[in-house]
Amino acid sequence: MFFDTKGIRLAYDDQGTGLPLVFLHAFPLNRSMWTPQTTALSRQFRTIAMDLRGHGESDAPLWNFSLEQYADDVLALLDHLAIPQAVLVGLSMGGYISLAFSRKYGSRLKGLVLADTRAQADSPEGRTGRFNLAQTAYGKGADAVADIMLSKLLGATSLQQKPELVDSIRHTIRNTPVSGIVVDLMAMADRPDSVAHLRTLACPTLVVVGQEDHTTPLADAHVMATGIPGARLAVIPAAGHLSNLEQPEVFNDLVRTFVEELRAAGD
Ligand code: MLT
Repeated sequence: MFFDTKGIRLAYDDQGTGLPLVFLHAFPLNRSMWTPQTTALSRQFRTIAMDLRGHGESDAPLWNFSLEQYADDVLALLDHLAIPQAVLVGLSMGGYISLAFSRKYGSRLKGLVLADTRAQADSPEGRTGRFNLAQTAYGKGADAVADIMLSKLLGATSLQQKPELVDSIRHTIRNTPVSGIVVDLMAMADRPDSVAHLRTLACPTLVVVGQEDHTTPLADAHVMATGIPGARLAVIPAAGHLSNLEQPEVFNDLVRTFVEELRAAGD
């Protein structure tokens, strides 16, 4: 399905009924990374997965340089679907966007799942790395980005044992517009530090991290889990940065339990 916000067309899937869960994907992927979650969890909940601008079937405008714009797009989707409150499930860049959303639109949050992400801003080296990768994308295309990103996205276990997953991630990255890749990198490089913001988060929060995640490792998950009042931390063995794809059943069980408890607390 598609909806329009300020002249930009964005794609999303909407399945199931009940408490809405909105899934926000990682860089440089699209909503298809959430298929194992939306397939399983839409039996109990309403699952909505969107392609962020510049990804998948959404438009790829060139003038977006801030993660707040993506948060505004999430709000526009909630308004379009007349959803007053939702649980945001954000992985990596999706987690950065969830934090941006919580800063601007906290009253629209029923709960948060922050997976394989971090609250800190980029270090100066991290920013330089993003500009270098943007230059590579611009000069050599998305194939070169796929070659660089695969070992950052997948853990050692998946790289060794899951060749189909490796191929499917490579395929997704190769098909991501270069403009989407470059714009994401600029927006991520520019994001503010959210560590002080964590203690102001009022909604129930689950922090998830793959044990083999070297991109946003366990130490980053600890910063969020200790900073957010009442947050819970779950570590997924034999998973890297894309923990939802590397160990989908474990990831689904964690989200299911968290949302069932949320729902029970609200009854
Ligand atoms: C992601 O998976 O969204 C990115 O790796 C995040 C990042 O580069 O910080």
